[in-house]
Amino acid sequence: MKMLTVFVSLFLLAAAEKQDLSGKMFTFPLTSNRHYVSLNPELENSNLTAVTVCLRAFSDLPRSQSLFSLELPSTHNAFLIFKPKHGAYKLHVEGQSMEFWGLPDELNAWNSLCATWNGKTGLGQLWVNGKPSVRKGFSRGGFLNGTPKIVLGQQQENYSGGFQGTQSFVGMLTDVHMWDSVLALDQIAKYSYGGQFQPGNVLNWSSLDFSKNGYVITECSKPTVELKHDN
Ligand SMILES: *[C@@H]1O[C@H](CO)[C@@H](O)[C@H](O)[C@H]1NC(C)=O
Ligand SMILES: *[C@@H]1O[C@H](CO)[C@@H](O)[C@H](O)[C@H]1NC(C)=O
Ligand SMILES: *[C@@H]1O[C@H](CO)[C@@H](O)[C@H](O)[C@H]1NC(C)=O
Repeated sequence: MKMLTVFVSLFLLAAAEKQDLSGKMFTFPLTSNRHYVSLNPELENSNLTAVTVCLRAFSDLPRSQSLFSLELPSTHNAFLIFKPKHGAYKLHVEGQSMEFWGLPDELNAWNSLCATWNGKTGLGQLWVNGKPSVRKGFSRGGFLNGTPKIVLGQQQENYSGGFQGTQSFVGMLTDVHMWDSVLALDQIAKYSYGGQFQPGNVLNWSSLDFSKNGYVITECSKPTVELKHDN
């Protein structure tokens, strides 16, 4: 019995280990409804009244795809960053959604994306490669209450799970951060242009508690940065 307790404790310790993923990315090689990464945020039973999520995505998918899926026990699509198709972005907050058009969306290149939401005003906004969207209103006076489940690579159907291959992400994701506030403009600019920024206090890529499920590879993110050639 004692032995079992020791093993269980060791397992829990290992499972809770955080990794510094600086300079690394998750590669999602296939369309599927099985391959994903779950992220364990620094929160339990939280009650968020503001959110910022930033990430960088590299893909050539023209179809719909989920970039960041956060579910709450009480709310489907509590905070979801989704691409319905090439050139379009959709942000869901507390199940309400808005589409954003005319933002950069380069295929086969890193796109740096930040999504912000302020519950007090209800205003949400996207920034892609430093370019801001229109601010649009979602769920004014709202809040995200409960222990979140966060998934990369798939869109969660509900808090108990369920994925659809048609919404899966194929490509690479890196530098995923989440804050419980609306990030200041200078911080968004620094994130977008590769400068030093204050890491996320809810999800910190330099100290990330996560688990990979199925065919997802963690690798160095450098080889995709442009190769110089003389001529
Ligand atoms: C969460 O925060 C909102 C806004 O501040 C508040 O109205 C609500 O009662 C809070 N919910 C819980 C469960 O603390
Ligand atoms: C969650 O979604 C899955 C897959 O669609 C479904 O099987 C399950 O019944 C859903 N659960 C709830 C509680 O809605
Ligand atoms: C993020 O992780 C790094 C590396 O562990 C740490 O130095 C930094 O303080 C963390 N930042 C926050 C806001 O948690």
